[in-house]
Amino acid sequence: MIFTSVDRGPAPPPRRRFLARRALVLATAGLLAAGGVGALSDTAHAATTLGSAAAAQGRYFGTAVAANHLGESAYVSTLDREFSSVTPENEMKWDAVEPSRNSFSFGSADQIVSHAQSKGMKVRGHTLVWHSQLPGWVAGLGTADLRTAMNNHITQVMQHYKGKIHSWDVVNEAFQDGNSGARRSSPFQDKLGSGFIEEAFRTARAADPAAKLCYNDYNTDGVNAKSTAVYNMVKDFKSRGVPIDCVGFQSHFNSASPVPADYRANLQRFADLGVDVQITELDIEGSGASQATSYGNVVKACLGVSRCTGITVWGVTDKYSWRSSGTPLLFDGNYAAKPAYDAVISAFGGTGGGGGGNATCSVSYSRTASWNGGFNGQVTVTAGSTAISGWTVAVTVTPPQKVSATWNGSPTWDSSGNVMTMRPNGNGNLAAGASTSFGFTVMTNGNTSAPAIGNCTAS
Ligand code: G3I
Repeated sequence: MIFTSVDRGPAPPPRRRFLARRALVLATAGLLAAGGVGALSDTAHAATTLGSAAAAQGRYFGTAVAANHLGESAYVSTLDREFSSVTPENEMKWDAVEPSRNSFSFGSADQIVSHAQSKGMKVRGHTLVWHSQLPGWVAGLGTADLRTAMNNHITQVMQHYKGKIHSWDVVNEAFQDGNSGARRSSPFQDKLGSGFIEEAFRTARAADPAAKLCYNDYNTDGVNAKSTAVYNMVKDFKSRGVPIDCVGFQSHFNSASPVPADYRANLQRFADLGVDVQITELDIEGSGASQATSYGNVVKACLGVSRCTGITVWGVTDKYSWRSSGTPLLFDGNYAAKPAYDAVISAFGGTGGGGGGNATCSVSYSRTASWNGGFNGQVTVTAGSTAISGWTVAVTVTPPQKVSATWNGSPTWDSSGNVMTMRPNGNGNLAAGASTSFGFTVMTNGNTSAPAIGNCTAS
């Protein structure tokens, strides 16, 4: 007879032991359900996320955040689960924090910083001196006043957030596009001359000596005239002891401006000057496999440069992107992870992109209803021995069958219209052994055969 160390009497026979264990699993599932989102997302932390995959490589993985979405639960749960750094998308810009001279309003930015801090996320500060989103009063100042106002702005904002910001974009987009290599016209450039950039950096160092001070720009991702102009400025700053710690590469990509072939080499040449490099506003327009490949290449480029300390994507979900119609982010409008998400995890060496590690899932299929001309199919997805945060299942129908409706999942289609790739629609987080189901209606058009259900891929 077998006794446990706490004497509960004899162990039940095998059948009763199985039922007891099943009851325990069900009770645990009940507790998780009763605990709501909090309990489930705690479980999901065991699985790979963007933040944890990047952390395994010594990098942060951040996102731009807008304060006005912090009341949306799906937005916040995705943010909190996946990201280890945030950048306020607009809330720290000059027009937001100093709308009139020497009158500061930090409310929305504070909201983002407090949220990040409560979740243990880092914060990037964006941005102190920029020609855009500049309130009208700044452009109206004379030279001496403008110098005072610029330095006061930097000092007040940085002191307000002292100790809370890991990196500041001190100066943003000060160079012209194209081949000129010239500085962009702005109130600062036009009145204070090119020296405004180093003055801003010196003021910033005095205001918060612990923050990393970055220069940030776009169309500087590959080796070109604009990036070379920035490179020459950084080289000059380093040689003269002007304080600069990092260069931000915004990395807004699309078909007209794809990830450059010399991206890694360009990041490396900056790193070789003795600064960190950061990918600060990444988004890549497109979809499916080609978008995924580009995202994977960006991660690989960063991992190829030891001083590339982290990546920030410019938003959580396609629906709130500044380029929303180009669907450039890692989560779609329903917060379902896209193939690009798996590619990022996979490039970091995580468990996405077709499995590996412990994240696994399995599928089963049943026909739940049929009628003359159609049937409903249901696929049940079950997590393996560890919690998962996403799953992908392909369902293939036989022409002339057509899928006419789906539920409890987020489908994408191949060009033939016969292969539907289903991803979660809010039901991606599964505790070990837990299940969820999605369903679909097939119009038979004379063919009643069952659909082919592909393997389940977990992330
Ligand atoms: O909040 C107002 C809203 O009240 C009003 O109804 C609406 C009407 O247009 O405008 C809203 O403000 C918009 C704001 O985004 C918030 O959505 C502004 O018009 C719009 O100009 C602003 O755009 C921002 C843009 O910077 C401004 O230059 C984008 O959100 C932001 O993603 C974008 O971010 C920049 C980085 O800071 C620097 N690098 C490029 C990047 C993309 O443009």
